[in-house]
Amino acid sequence: SDTECEDRIARAKAALGSQVVILGHHYQREEVFQFADYSGDSLKLSRQAAASDAHYIIFCGVHFMAEVADILSRPEQKAILPDMAAGCAMADMADLAKVERAWRELGEILEPEQEVTPVTYINSAANLKAFCGRHGGIVCTSSNAQAVLKWAFDRREKVLFFPDQHLGRNTGYSMGIPLEEMVVWDFNQPYGGLTREQIQAARIILWQGHCSVHQMFQPVHIDRFLERYPDAKVISHPENSFEVCQKSHYVGSTEYIIKTIREAEPGTRWLVGTELNLVNRLREHYKTEGKSIHFMSPTVCMCSTMFRIDPQHLAWSLENLISGQVVNQIKVPEEEAELARLALTRMLEVSP
Ligand code: 13P
Ligand code: SF4
Repeated sequence: SDTECEDRIARAKAALGSQVVILGHHYQREEVFQFADYSGDSLKLSRQAAASDAHYIIFCGVHFMAEVADILSRPEQKAILPDMAAGCAMADMADLAKVERAWRELGEILEPEQEVTPVTYINSAANLKAFCGRHGGIVCTSSNAQAVLKWAFDRREKVLFFPDQHLGRNTGYSMGIPLEEMVVWDFNQPYGGLTREQIQAARIILWQGHCSVHQMFQPVHIDRFLERYPDAKVISHPENSFEVCQKSHYVGSTEYIIKTIREAEPGTRWLVGTELNLVNRLREHYKTEGKSIHFMSPTVCMCSTMFRIDPQHLAWSLENLISGQVVNQIKVPEEEAELARLALTRMLEVSP
């Protein structure tokens, strides 16, 4: 049973003491999230992984997050993902072969090393971060995307942004880049399905990727809600569509969403466009202050891969450590890790 499992986790954690640190992303289910030593958004957890002294970093989140923990931690530290099937559907929308092909094709039309900076959202495989490291590029998260794009535009004229078109578009637009100067690269077509002129005129080339959880939120959900509660505030994650973000009063990372609601006046009402586990947690937490928290979609939409991390897997990975077995270790090959670290370090240096 779950309670039994929770007892096992608590016992194993106590036995391992400071040898282990558990990092929990805000989208984790409550039964797991309660055991996190540190919680946060992708940026905060990356920093936490880099600063940790623990021998084992158990990442309750998704695969790319555990990879980042491995890349930023010391060689003797081990990053563990309790369930190997916890991937990220968006991260899977960009792979090295397709990105290299895009880079080659851009090279035929432009001089990519002179004109284009590759920027990868942290929601991507380690080999894509390495690609960015190799080509003068950088990583971003949803909380530093503006600072990162500014860094990129200070160097080269254009940006190739992958895998999330929405974060790229929403961030570019918030910096004053008009939509006409952004194009979508369809990675299933030669030259992204674009003409030479379109590529030459673009400032941001957006990879055609998206988050299947956030794409469930629609502008009509906001309209209906505001008709009913005209004084309510709408807050969304930048992985939402342009239209949803434009209709929102606030847009930002999971950490930003939490902070904004925490600092809001008691009695306020919020419509939140991000993953259900976080929204439910906010609702529970703030009901005593009279803050009403509503989920943006009328249908239940959760990140099913975040949800794969369950108490059973967490207990199993901790208990194995007690018996000296490291299960589900995430290890990025050193050559790849070195280049990925370069792109991640650039990001950490420009992050506010
Ligand atoms: P945050 O960095 O805002 O936590 O986002 C991570 C993520 O995967 C959102 O879908
Ligand atoms: Fe990936 Fe979307 Fe899940 Fe975030 S919510 S981990 S972007 S699939």
